[in-house]
Amino acid sequence: MDRLVGGSIHAYETVDSTQTVLARFAREGAPEGTLVSAAHQTVGRGRRGHRWWDASGDSLLMSILLRPCVTTQETPSLALVAGLAVADALEAVATVAARIRWPNDVLVGGKKISGVLPEAVSGADGRVAYVLLGIGINIDQDVFPDDLRDEAISLRQATGVRHEQGRVRDAVLESLDLRYAEWLSAGFPRLRDAWRRRACTLGERVRGADGTEGVAVDVDDTGALLVDAGHGALARVISSTTALAPSSARARSPSCCS
Ligand code: BTN
Repeated sequence: MDRLVGGSIHAYETVDSTQTVLARFAREGAPEGTLVSAAHQTVGRGRRGHRWWDASGDSLLMSILLRPCVTTQETPSLALVAGLAVADALEAVATVAARIRWPNDVLVGGKKISGVLPEAVSGADGRVAYVLLGIGINIDQDVFPDDLRDEAISLRQATGVRHEQGRVRDAVLESLDLRYAEWLSAGFPRLRDAWRRRACTLGERVRGADGTEGVAVDVDDTGALLVDAGHGALARVISSTTALAPSSARARSPSCCS
């Protein structure tokens, strides 16, 4: 069966960020599912302005172009769906118990093995023009820099054996293809139970980026975290999909609905 995600693959040795390279393809009208990968990034981007560190060749670094026909308000749950797809794939390919820290950090043994960065560009009509879905997975590191050592883990460290990157990548693409199709056809509510089963955030004390503090009790239909802050009604903490500035070249991109 043909796969949408990763239907066309552009592999590089070194780039600044696969997100930046893919953004260029997107503006030039590349089709949905186009994938950019690299062995090394000089300026890997993480969520909330953080950098994403890699040692050349040891990480799976990729960005996938999605053109969902949805409004910008509907995109945050895509972050959770991508995290779920990565967790499913890692468990399938390497038999690790992968958990998700809301919204989309994938953890093994309490340490982060993968991060997901969805960056959305909005169209003129309030709909999404496209999403650059960045995924980084630590595969083959046997050591991390001092500042990451306590919080990061690789697949090799988690399992004690090396894993072929191509196999991991294919497992992630297959899983993302399935989950993305489910999300498009039925929305996040269809995937919520699967996400809950993998979540390690629910029942934990959390502090949202907006300062909300309390116990995480659930996620709602949009993927927002519902937090019991002890004031009666539950507070909603929203996972922000980074909004990239619309580009003047956007007009040349095919619309999500076309
Ligand atoms: C996070 O902060 O957890 C998200 C990290 C996302 C990193 C990936 S690596 C491939 C893609 N290119 C980037 O510059 N970032 C994402």
